[in-house]
Amino acid sequence: MKQQEENVDSENLCIDDILSYYKKSGRHDLVFRKNITPYRVLVSEVMLQQTQVSRVLPKYSEWMKLYPTLTALSRATLTEVLVLWQGLGYQRRAKALLLMAKAHSKLPTSYEGLLKLPGIGTYTASAICAFAYDTFSHPVLETNIRTVLIEYFHLGEEGIHDGLLYDDLTRLEQYPQVKKLGARNFYYAIMDYGAYLKSKKISHNTKSRHHVVQSAYKGSHRELRAKVLFAITHTRELPKDIKDVCLGIVVAELIKEGFIIQKGKKYSIA
Ligand code: ADE
Repeated sequence: MKQQEENVDSENLCIDDILSYYKKSGRHDLVFRKNITPYRVLVSEVMLQQTQVSRVLPKYSEWMKLYPTLTALSRATLTEVLVLWQGLGYQRRAKALLLMAKAHSKLPTSYEGLLKLPGIGTYTASAICAFAYDTFSHPVLETNIRTVLIEYFHLGEEGIHDGLLYDDLTRLEQYPQVKKLGARNFYYAIMDYGAYLKSKKISHNTKSRHHVVQSAYKGSHRELRAKVLFAITHTRELPKDIKDVCLGIVVAELIKEGFIIQKGKKYSIA
């Protein structure tokens, strides 16, 4: 019983801290939190995966000017989309968005329906339900949210499984003040509080069993892929300053993934 009371105390404290921070200092002006549509949420969440908010902001605005709807995006070419995506990295995300737009004119309204679309996983489906539909369909979990949950409920633990953190979120979602706020604002609030903790050098992601360390960009395979795609979109040729072995691997990979096509000595975006 005592343990249960302590849990309720830390849950109340966590919610109070999150909500008072959000009221005072929440990032209410973020452009992707305005004029919400399921499509706009999809694009911002895909861009924000593995990429900092500050790098996403200009690209998101540019994208929305050119492709304000799923239908507008469906008319784009892979070359156009990749040119716009330059600087964000992980170009598979751009290709997946384009393929989705070409195959669907409307996004499903349920978590299960969203999960069926290629390129939409647990995180994106849950984020669209919370941010676009304002429903608590499935708990939303990403790095900033992990930090908050570990700070309040799992300090001192190692190898923390996401299953435990989903349970924490499910419990928090039952509190009347959270229900009253709604899914959209609750998840904005917990993300913002996580970002705040990170700014105070509090980050517990290495304690998560699911933490993936992002490799340095300079000299990485990711950088090579970006260089090759950049060169092909601008010159239809391969870059000249890369070792043949490395270049061969990257080119073969990009052909296999359907990004590029080789025609003799020339290359083009698929
Ligand atoms: N607001 C909505 N989605 C977000 C995200 N992924 N990161 C930060 N703020 C957000």
